[in-house]
Amino acid sequence: MNREQRGARHVPVLLRRADELLGPALTEPGAVYVDATLGLGGHAEHFLSAYPGLRLVGLDRDTEALRLAGERLAPFADRITLVHTRYDGIADALEQAGLDPIGSVSGILMDLGVSSMQLDEAERGFAYSVDAPLDMRMDPSTGITAADVLNTYSHGDLARVLKNYGEERFAGKIASEVLRRRAQRPFTSSGELVELLYATIPAAARRTGGHPAKRTFQALRVEVNGELDSLRAALPAALDSLRLGGRIVVMSYQSLEDRVVKQELAARTTSRTPVDLPVELPGMGPEFRLLTRGAEKATEQEIEENPRAAPVRMRAAERIEKSS
Ligand SMILES: C[S@@+](CC[C@H](N)C(=O)[O-])C[C@H]1O[C@@H](n2cnc3c(N)ncnc32)[C@H](O)[C@@H]1O
Repeated sequence: MNREQRGARHVPVLLRRADELLGPALTEPGAVYVDATLGLGGHAEHFLSAYPGLRLVGLDRDTEALRLAGERLAPFADRITLVHTRYDGIADALEQAGLDPIGSVSGILMDLGVSSMQLDEAERGFAYSVDAPLDMRMDPSTGITAADVLNTYSHGDLARVLKNYGEERFAGKIASEVLRRRAQRPFTSSGELVELLYATIPAAARRTGGHPAKRTFQALRVEVNGELDSLRAALPAALDSLRLGGRIVVMSYQSLEDRVVKQELAARTTSRTPVDLPVELPGMGPEFRLLTRGAEKATEQEIEENPRAAPVRMRAAERIEKSS
C-alpha cells in the first residue's frame, strides 16, 4: 500500500462525536472551520462534505501532511486555505486567509499528536518498533532532532525531559546510561536507544509498564517538537478566534496535553467575579460553556475499529455571551 492509499484508508478518530459537537456551529453558509492539525485531512474531508457552505482553514507544521491533505481535499479546492504553521500561529494563519483573528471562526478541531502517516514513515524516527534515524521532528525543515537531545543535553536536563514528558520512573538511570554511551559514540539510530532501554529498565518493571521504549520516545517527541509550549500558546489564540456560538473540540492522546486543555477550558468557563459577591461583575462572567463532562473517551467498539482511539481524551466548549 502506498502513502496515498494509506491516507485514504485512515479512519479519523471519534469522527461521529466530533461532528455532534462541532456540527451545530458549522451549518451557516460561509462558516469558517479551522482544522489546526490537518494531518491526512480525514476530519476535514468529512466536514467539507457534510457542510456544503463551509470554508476550511487547515494548519499543519508538516509539509508532507499538507501535500497529502491537499490532494485528498482537491475536490473542495475553492473552499480551502492550507497554511504551513505550528498551531500557535493560528492568528497569523487566519489573517493570511483574509479573516479576523478575533471572533470570526465557527468551529475548531485540534486532533493532537502524530499522524498515522508520521508513525508509518520509518525514516521519520517516531516509531520504536523499527530501527531508523533518531529524528522525530514533525516539521523536518527546522529545529533539533531526538539525536541532538540525546547527544547534547546535560544529565539533569535529559532526566527532566524523560520524567516530565514521559513520566518515566527510571529517568535518572536512563540519563546516566545515555551520557556513558554517548561518550564512546554519539547516538544516531532508534535501535541503539531501544537496546539501551531494554538494558537499563529492570526486567520486573518491563513486565508491567508496557513497552520499555514507549515513555522515552514520547518524552523525546514532546521535547523535540515543543508540543506542550505550542499547545499552551495556541489554546488562548484559538478560543479568541471563535465567534459567539463558535465551538472548539480538542482531542489529546497523553495526560500532559489533556491537563493543559482542561486548565485552559476551566479558566474560560469559570466566572472571574469573586465568589463572595452575590452578583456577576460586568465583563467578569464566563466566556465559554463546556460541552463535554470531564474528558470523553472512545467506546470499546470504536477502539476495536480504530486502535489509535484507545488513549484519546476529548474536550469541547462553546463561546457564549459574556454577562455585561
Ligand atoms: C493526529 S494527526 C491529525 C489527523 C487528522 N485529524 C486527520 O483526520 O487526518 C496530528 C497532526 O497534527 C500535526 N501537528 C502536531 N503538532 C502540531 C503543531 N504544534 N502545530 C501544527 N500542527 C501540528 C502533525 O504534524 C499531524 O499531522
